[in-house]
Amino acid sequence: MPEPTPPGRDLLNVLDYETAAHKVLPPMARDYYASGAHDEVTLRANRAAFERVALRYHVLRGVEVRDTSVELLGRRHPVPLLIAPAAFGRLAHPDGELAVARAAAAAGITQTLSTLSTCSIEAVAEAGGGGPRWFQLYVFRDREVTRDLVQRAEAAGYEALVLTVDAPVLGYRDRDARNRFELPEGLAPESLSGALAKVQAEGAASGLFQYFAALIDPSLTWDDVDWLLSVTRLPVLLKGVVRGDDATLAVEHGAAGVIVSNHGGRQLDGAVASLDALSEVAAAVDGQAAVLVDGGVRRGTDILKALALGADAVLVGRPVLWGLAVAGEAGVRHVLELLSAEFDLAMALCGVQSVEEITRDLVAGRQ
Ligand code: GLV
Repeated sequence: MPEPTPPGRDLLNVLDYETAAHKVLPPMARDYYASGAHDEVTLRANRAAFERVALRYHVLRGVEVRDTSVELLGRRHPVPLLIAPAAFGRLAHPDGELAVARAAAAAGITQTLSTLSTCSIEAVAEAGGGGPRWFQLYVFRDREVTRDLVQRAEAAGYEALVLTVDAPVLGYRDRDARNRFELPEGLAPESLSGALAKVQAEGAASGLFQYFAALIDPSLTWDDVDWLLSVTRLPVLLKGVVRGDDATLAVEHGAAGVIVSNHGGRQLDGAVASLDALSEVAAAVDGQAAVLVDGGVRRGTDILKALALGADAVLVGRPVLWGLAVAGEAGVRHVLELLSAEFDLAMALCGVQSVEEITRDLVAGRQ
């Protein structure tokens, strides 16, 4: 894997991008991306869980040749790393999700586009060319809106649907409420229209909190998972699962995968850290579907730790937004390169040549 070429000496890792992004982002956008729900206990726990895991590396294994790629849902991915859905990319950079699409396509890394993206389903598909792409779905009270999004994603070549199941209502992010978060003039969720394309703060809470309360369906159940599977030919992954019993139900209902996630600590504060929920979910799924995890991945070693604990791949959300804020497409490219190169390095130092060799015994206390 080539050495990453940093655009600046100060940008040596993803955390440098966080610092740099926080300097350039307007406060309302910075707080929107950075915030977790309420006291942000889960936001911090996601990161702390990775830091607690210690690696029991092998020595003298001959690691001159390494293969970081992984098979997932019928496609070979160059690294077990995908881009998580994140709303409102143009808050970070004028090119928003289009820049993410170009950077992702150049790296062959899958971009998951949010329902609430500030560039449309079709525009992102065009910008990303032949790159792999998934679409994240929120289910609106008006089911026809959701069905239309599904059909457009299919027509535009998205390869999987990611149904977010941890947000029947939006978590309460105190920072957004204080800022009375809303989209600035000229920015909108571009895949939607009319009232669905307006995110404006009218009361005391954040505009997005009000948007969810008015438009997103809080009555979602497993029946709706069946409904979604009946209206699409795409594989469906459920994002936001943190329990083995829910993961078992996901498999029974026909999900192609589960994403172990607490929405980056933005929904239920006090929720279990995603890495801490991973082993239970992976055991319940038992190879019958893909298992991915997000929340707190900031280093290549984090990717390796997640794989050792049962994930097939990880997703990163905020790191991509930081890259986008700092340097647009080039920033996202660099963030993806940094994480890929760090993962390759972690494999070498753990004495593994291929992703299949990343097993549970690499983690202290879990062999
Ligand atoms: C939207 O999905 C958010 O978490 O803000």
